[in-house]
Amino acid sequence: GLPERVTIYEVGPRDGLQNEQALVPLETKATFVRRLVAAGLPVVEATSFVHPKWVPQLADAAELVALLETDDQLGDRARDLTVLVPNERGLDRALELGMRHVAIFGSATETFAAKNLNRTLSTQMEMFEPTVARAREAGLDVRAYVSMCFGDPWEGPVPIEQVVTAGRQLLDLGASQLSLGDTIGVGTAGHVTALVEAFAEAGVGPERLALHFHDTYGQALSNVQAGLRAGVTTYDASAGGLGGCPYAVSATGNLATEDLVWLLDGLGIEHGVDLGALVATSAWMAGELGRPSPSAVVRALGAD
Ligand code: HMG
Ligand code: MG
Repeated sequence: GLPERVTIYEVGPRDGLQNEQALVPLETKATFVRRLVAAGLPVVEATSFVHPKWVPQLADAAELVALLETDDQLGDRARDLTVLVPNERGLDRALELGMRHVAIFGSATETFAAKNLNRTLSTQMEMFEPTVARAREAGLDVRAYVSMCFGDPWEGPVPIEQVVTAGRQLLDLGASQLSLGDTIGVGTAGHVTALVEAFAEAGVGPERLALHFHDTYGQALSNVQAGLRAGVTTYDASAGGLGGCPYAVSATGNLATEDLVWLLDGLGIEHGVDLGALVATSAWMAGELGRPSPSAVVRALGAD
């Protein structure tokens, strides 16, 4: 059967905004995070401690955290927001702020490791190894993403064994969870099933996996259903369907959190999120960004 409960891992403020060309004001980002937390999202990825030249939109990461931890709503809980860190420099910046949850992000393909991290498949691991070791010593929880798990815009279809190898290496560094990213949204349900099974055969059960779908080809919800049937209980999603990776061709729209919530509600699977509050947040954010949300559920419910 399907799981009774899933964890929605909200990436809107990070994956959703990282590719926005116009700088989003700090106060708008803070409001976005606060509203997502208030809507019941149990995990919110707030920003990235990456090189500010690589992702200028998130250059204000430290200011955002500082602003959130001084306000009435979040206070110390701002340190429980998750943040991306690619390397020790990023970890240092997160440690200075007292963050408790960081996420590293590796690639399953050589080309994307070069484009996104300026590394090879092996030197990305050399960058992550001391980063994770020091984070764990400091008592932090570390999530690992692996990108291009289904297809890569430069290399085409990505062999399952290659994804399992990269994913196992990242987990073996000491990460608690592995998020399998369909960065360009080309995956389909059968491929999801095969990938989750391959991880299980390699000793990584579905309880250690999360699935991170992009809806570029309209397959994200179908892929979630395949993941649910395979026993995966954590799904990444972006409020309003915002986002994409600036270093991947055609990496549009993340799975919209509202679309995911609608599916889970229909299946009777618990998630703890207030759909009305979430839709209102995404409709407000669409107004701030000056264009309609790509989410079908936000368009259907957010018109009033
Ligand atoms: P690099 O140029 O190789 O950096 O970039 P470096 O290690 O050679 O360092 C060069 C300089 O940058 C040094 O300064 C460092 O201190 C500084 P200098 O000594 O020359 O004065 N530096 C930093 N400064 C601030 N913060 C840092 C940092 N690191 C180095 N963290 C690097 C390597 C990894 C830094 C770069 O490639 C980078 O920042 N990449 C991030 C790209 C990114 O954020 N992509 C989007 C997120 S991934 C994604 O969206 C996919 C996902 O959603 C899942 C999916 O959908 O698949 C997660
Ligand atoms: Mg992504």
